[in-house]
Amino acid sequence: MEYSSSVIPMINEIRKSVNSFLSGFEPLFVLVVPFVTFFVARIVQSFVQVVQEKGVKSTVVGFFMSCVKLVPGVKKYIDAEKQKVVDKLQSSSKSKRDGWRTELPKTGLGGGVIEQMKDEKQKDPAWQGKCSGTVYIGGSESEGHFSLINEACSMFAHTNPLHLDVFRSVVRFEAEVVAMTAALFGSKEKASGGQVCGNMTSGGTESILLAVKSSRDYMKATKNITCPEMIIPESAHSAYDKACQYFKIKLWRVPVNKEFQADVKAIKKYINKNTIMIVGSAPGFPHGIIDPIEELGELAFSYGICLHVDLCLGGFVLPFARKLGYSIPPFDFSVQGVTSISADVHKYGLAPKGTSIVLYRNHEIRKHQFVAVTEWSGGLYVSPTIAGSRPGGLIAGAWAAMLSLGQEGYLEHTRDIMEASKRIQNGVKDIPELYIVGRPDMTIVAFASNVIDIFEVNDMLSSKGWHLNPLQRPNSIHICVTLQHVPIVDDFVKDLKESVQIVKKNPGPVDGGLAPIYGAAGKIPDRGMVNELLVDYMDNTC
Ligand SMILES: *Cc1c(COP(=O)(O)O)cnc(C)c1O
Ligand SMILES: *[C@@H]1O[C@H](CO)[C@@H](O)[C@H](O)[C@H]1NC(C)=O
Ligand SMILES: *[C@@H]1O[C@H](CO)[C@@H](O)[C@H](O)[C@H]1NC(C)=O
Repeated sequence: MEYSSSVIPMINEIRKSVNSFLSGFEPLFVLVVPFVTFFVARIVQSFVQVVQEKGVKSTVVGFFMSCVKLVPGVKKYIDAEKQKVVDKLQSSSKSKRDGWRTELPKTGLGGGVIEQMKDEKQKDPAWQGKCSGTVYIGGSESEGHFSLINEACSMFAHTNPLHLDVFRSVVRFEAEVVAMTAALFGSKEKASGGQVCGNMTSGGTESILLAVKSSRDYMKATKNITCPEMIIPESAHSAYDKACQYFKIKLWRVPVNKEFQADVKAIKKYINKNTIMIVGSAPGFPHGIIDPIEELGELAFSYGICLHVDLCLGGFVLPFARKLGYSIPPFDFSVQGVTSISADVHKYGLAPKGTSIVLYRNHEIRKHQFVAVTEWSGGLYVSPTIAGSRPGGLIAGAWAAMLSLGQEGYLEHTRDIMEASKRIQNGVKDIPELYIVGRPDMTIVAFASNVIDIFEVNDMLSSKGWHLNPLQRPNSIHICVTLQHVPIVDDFVKDLKESVQIVKKNPGPVDGGLAPIYGAAGKIPDRGMVNELLVDYMDNTC
């Protein structure tokens, strides 16, 4: 007890002096506490935001990976492994670069360039009938529609519609291409409101970039949305990511439903006061499945937000497939709520590469696509699309494609590719090791396997000269059927059957194949690292 009686007063003494010491700082506490609270709240808030954006799993994985990389040596190891993958991806392209010119020749080659170009062209792998998508025009370059397009392009190769007073022919072609395309998507029907308008662009990506930009600025002008967000299905094209990165829009990618279509209920959950637009594809690139555009339209309309329908792939097939009697759900301006559409003439429109259309329900929205400049010493300037000068030759090519084919031409081609793709679907169904992903609506057939590595099948097909598209979620590959394939459907099915049998008997990496990389990249939970890997790959290629 001696002990406690001496200690307790001592403790009391200490407490007193600490208290008096602290009380001197009381005013400071009044300041510090709110600050600390504020910062802690901010940290918690941004953590919650990251979890919301990336999901719990990716956040935990991301956090875990950042911690792991702090362990000495681990970051170095990961970087080295990453470099190995990049090297493997590049090994094929690098070796082929030997002898490439890096400077102008001192003396021009004159007409000799044509010979050199012919030589180079001959070294390209055969693409005729062998590539998924890629070349949509049928036949060879020297015959039929192909040579007609080439002639149209060369006739107007020197023109630029920027100079509308000079190249009036091209300006007319352009306006007609836009009007003819709009008419395919209900511009002449009452339900469209009779105000549909648009412009030609350099491709699907530019059409999408413009539709997103116009929607963003339209929603800012009409609803004062200053922190825009948009919601798209997981199956929507990567061009929407590009648009959101370029135009500072927050993007939500929402998983698709069991039918691999846009999940309208799930999309609805992400709508808030900052939402500017949602997207549906008809069909989506991965599985060729049409999203429920009518339901998306209802949703967009009820919330007063924009709905873009991606018809890049389907624009020059679906209107004709419907006329041929295929059951095609509504997908265009006849659907209330659809505010913009993109359609590629350079895919199934059978026009030269570099031609696409962006369309708007009315001028109020399209107005936000244009850029006007009043303070330039170069004069008053107003430009409708991303490019300034543009290739008139391509516009002429698109015009020639559309006019030379007419409705009957497109109908006939649509029948051919729809039938070819049915035959390919049946061929795939005949292979017990494979299954078709979802129910394809058009001319893209995606397939996967539960028993063999589908990417090994892809490598085997590549070794037979085919170029298909590898997909993820689920791991699968697809063929986008074009006129190039119509005559060789049986060859394709035969090669596919053989490839499946070879992989089944002999599972494992194919020499020079990319299956291990696709397989691994799909499994790496740290998507940030896969992202870096892709950028490193591209950066090191040139
Ligand atoms: C091809 C495609 C795009 C992008 O078009 P590009 O012409 O390659 O820029 C966008 N959406 C879908 C559905 C597509 O198939
Ligand atoms: C875009 O539309 C505007 C208005 O109709 C027109 O003046 C312009 O020439 C068009 N440009 C293109 C690239 O289609
Ligand atoms: C628009 O929103 C901003 C930021 O949310 C706000 O400061 C501004 O007052 C709003 N303007 C109008 C016209 O409502």
